[in-house]
Amino acid sequence: MKFPDSFLDEIRARLPVSQVVSRRVPLKRAGREWKGLSPFNKEKTPSFTVNDQKGFYHDFSSGKHGDIFTFLMEMEGLSFPEAVERLAGEAGLPLPKPDPQFERAAKERLGLLDALEAAAKLFEEQLRTEHGREALSYAEHRGLSAETLKEFRIGYAPIAKDALKGALLKKGFTETQLLEAGLLIKPDDGRTSYDRFRNRLTIPILDLKSCVVAFGARALDPNAEPKYLNSPETKLFDKGATVFNLARARQAAFDKGELIVVEGYMDVIALHQAGFVNVVATLGTAFTERQMERLWQLAPEPVVCFDGDKAGEAAAARAIDRMLPALREGQSFRFAFLPQGSDPDDLVRSAGSRAFAEVLAAARPLIDVVWQRERSAQAIDTPERRAAFEARMEHLLTEIGNARVRDHYRREIKKRLFALWREKPAHGIAVPPNRAAKPSTRSGPTPLPSAYGCATAITLALINHPWLLDHHAEEVAHLEIRDKPLAALLATVATTIHGDHDITRERLIEQLLQGNHAKQLDRLLRESPYKRIAFLQPETPRPEVETQFQDLIYRFRALPNLSKELLDGADHLAELSDAEFERFAALQQQVASVGLKHATDDAGDREAAKRFQETVARLKQEHISTQRGRRPDRRG
Ligand code: UTP
Ligand code: MN
Repeated sequence: MKFPDSFLDEIRARLPVSQVVSRRVPLKRAGREWKGLSPFNKEKTPSFTVNDQKGFYHDFSSGKHGDIFTFLMEMEGLSFPEAVERLAGEAGLPLPKPDPQFERAAKERLGLLDALEAAAKLFEEQLRTEHGREALSYAEHRGLSAETLKEFRIGYAPIAKDALKGALLKKGFTETQLLEAGLLIKPDDGRTSYDRFRNRLTIPILDLKSCVVAFGARALDPNAEPKYLNSPETKLFDKGATVFNLARARQAAFDKGELIVVEGYMDVIALHQAGFVNVVATLGTAFTERQMERLWQLAPEPVVCFDGDKAGEAAAARAIDRMLPALREGQSFRFAFLPQGSDPDDLVRSAGSRAFAEVLAAARPLIDVVWQRERSAQAIDTPERRAAFEARMEHLLTEIGNARVRDHYRREIKKRLFALWREKPAHGIAVPPNRAAKPSTRSGPTPLPSAYGCATAITLALINHPWLLDHHAEEVAHLEIRDKPLAALLATVATTIHGDHDITRERLIEQLLQGNHAKQLDRLLRESPYKRIAFLQPETPRPEVETQFQDLIYRFRALPNLSKELLDGADHLAELSDAEFERFAALQQQVASVGLKHATDDAGDREAAKRFQETVARLKQEHISTQRGRRPDRRG
């Protein structure tokens, strides 16, 4: 039987040569390779080397050379299919079903690769013609050098509907091939197919052999949707297993034992140009297990960068949930957070490589980020809430797949909790009694306070502690508050403080009471249930206020994202495995309450939240019935 290359590659990806070899030959690390005594010849000084990065062994004493498959064939006299079968088992991969059409499929693949390569060439040429002038100047404006454009094979997809189609048909490719390569779109209504990428800057996505397998294409027009158009999944392009720039970055990453993971194409390209060549991107998708495997092959603790905005925070929170089940001994991730409002591309361009190096150096271990996420999800100012926090942390432990890692997380968390409970009682944020009183009947994270509540508390905090604005002016300016009167009040508060940085609380209130918002402010100061929140009191020490305020902003920004993300996620529910589905449904339940509360600020959102819940309910029903369908009926 013949095995698809992709299947063999997957086995190679999962089993480092050193792991297979070291069961028969003791190996020692030597620089970026492993060394041992030749298994093929008797010798006293080791001349047998293994290179995991390149995926082969080389025996200088016998001249023998090969990969994990030939090693088993040599050592145990297995045939190639036997070796594949054995190693597939070891890698936990089921054997592919015999495919009589395999030869044809392999040929097709080649045809598709040729088509994509031809497209990449054409786009590159177009960038240098009259048609590509605007695209070229766009790229130059973004600071990309000629060398970078060439290195990344950046090109331009012309505006005409069939520029690429026409050119490639002329070269002898068929329409079917171009469709299968994801280069054309065929409308459902039977109209003729046309170019997928038009009037965009094109960025080829390469596989590990540096063959073009897909494109990402950046709109030039700032109003064009979507900003990036990507190739669809094809026979060659498996999104969940793809990491952008892996082929270029892997040697450098492996040599340094360090890998930088960012979100976007342009981040990779800008960082590469700034001298950080060990960088890859996940392209805005959630981390998949297969992506994580690829990353860990290059470095034990890749540093994952998140944008300094609310989307970045939400992405980090999502990434954590993906990472915990996959952790293994010695293999984790570190988290680097960029300054507010910038991504790596912005940062290196505005502040230089050194600024980015500093961000990297400040990267924090996963445990810290997990701890912080749960710690700031709710105040811990009462015994019940402390118990809830403890329960959340314990629940998280169950997400960790690897028993030894889980055990060490358990110890670490115990230690931290112990230290935390010994601290003097914190002036936590007390949610007003009427809202807090409802005890949660569900386990897991407790619902967050409403968006309106957070925004009110933020406003009160600034009034009681005007100095906060010094550190948080930008964050406050960017808060998206739905309640118009409240947003206006906050804006006035901020402007007034801005006009006099040393203003005291008393002066501030006095001035505000003379302005347009007098009534509203008066009510807020006298009647708002939020005015009782401990840290909003004028006498609370500054560090305490600072921490709590930061918490509050973090929370406020997380709210709409959570509900939006779940809405987006609902589109993909049908593809989830059972375990993933269960988890999603649980998360949905927790967030629905937040989403609905949040929605009371805005009727449009309420619609969305309702639709979302209906979708989940329906999918759950479908999911249950397909499960029943899958089970053989024993009585029959
Ligand atoms: P961002 O929206 O953060 O864009 O998306 P960016 O990388 O900063 O892009 P520039 O600097 O404005 O050009 C991050 C990544 O998410 C994916 C892309 O891979 C993008 O690089 N994305 C984003 C899409 O696939 N489609 C989109 O419409 C937007
Ligand atoms: Mn960007």
